[in-house]
Amino acid sequence: MSEVKQEVKQFYDQVGWKLVGADVYQNARYEDLRPVSRQYIHECHLRVMRHLSPSGRFLLDAGSGPVQYPEYLEYSRDYQYRVCADISLTALQEARKRLGDRGLYVVADVANLPFKAEVFDGVVSLHTIHHLPEEEHLRAFRELYRVLAQGKKAVVVNGWSASRWVNYFEPLIRFANRLRHVFARLGWTVEESVDETNDAAGQRKAGRGKTGGTPKGTFTSKHDAEWVKRDVGHYMPVEILVWRSVTVRFMRALIHPRLGGRALLRWLYALEERYPRYFGEHGKYPLIVIQKPEEADSIP
Ligand SMILES: C[S@@+](CC[C@H](N)C(=O)[O-])C[C@H]1O[C@@H](n2cnc3c(N)ncnc32)[C@H](O)[C@@H]1O
Repeated sequence: MSEVKQEVKQFYDQVGWKLVGADVYQNARYEDLRPVSRQYIHECHLRVMRHLSPSGRFLLDAGSGPVQYPEYLEYSRDYQYRVCADISLTALQEARKRLGDRGLYVVADVANLPFKAEVFDGVVSLHTIHHLPEEEHLRAFRELYRVLAQGKKAVVVNGWSASRWVNYFEPLIRFANRLRHVFARLGWTVEESVDETNDAAGQRKAGRGKTGGTPKGTFTSKHDAEWVKRDVGHYMPVEILVWRSVTVRFMRALIHPRLGGRALLRWLYALEERYPRYFGEHGKYPLIVIQKPEEADSIP
């Protein structure tokens, strides 16, 4: 296993999938778990289901982690088995607590899946491919496509390297964060701010440094929409829609219960629904749908 994969595995085994509260993992510290954002985040999670076959024999969850959010369980509700594949043993042990006999648990690398071609009726891979060394991303997409049955769909979610939409708000985010620090210095209670080196999935953007003694995140490497359309699209039909257009940093800075936060997120969700392709390409988190044709040729 490469040095990068070793590091990622070690991070999730020892830090990311450690419970830090009732049913809350260290990894979730970078999710926005505040009540004000709950509905928006819930609905974004459910977007994945629109594209998957609702039922079947096997659903592959590539980089499943512990299947940490309740919405994730819905994806495989009417499947016979959810096959959780992950390089972290801790992830799979935790996933088993949620899925029990409805799950099958395989320590595996998403870039080298130990499954026969076309055995899965549905495939999801959420926030995982970005943990691979860049030169293996395409291989991981091709592996997901290889194991997907003909006529079925896979959904892949990873953050883009940059987001034009979130960048529009950067001055406002900085201003809100400065205000927060001023309030904190004055001794006023403020919500905990998000570590600015991390994103919604809780990973460093790249590199392998550590903050203090325990690493807060691990290696990630991301692409832009052009790469997906050109490089991935060369091998399989891809459609880029929106999963969630904003980062946790955006939400923590600009969404507050007393400043119309819920209404703002409702409006944002409606906007994303209306323009899913724009927000898929220019927001932060795309939902990439891969559909394997009914009469797919042998794997390219
Ligand atoms: C950010 S977590 C996401 C977990 C889950 N999909 C979710 O959305 O909550 C990334 C997961 O991918 C796993 N992972 C990282 N690199 C992997 C690889 N090469 N093959 C399989 N799993 C991997 C990690 O162990 C971790 O459980």
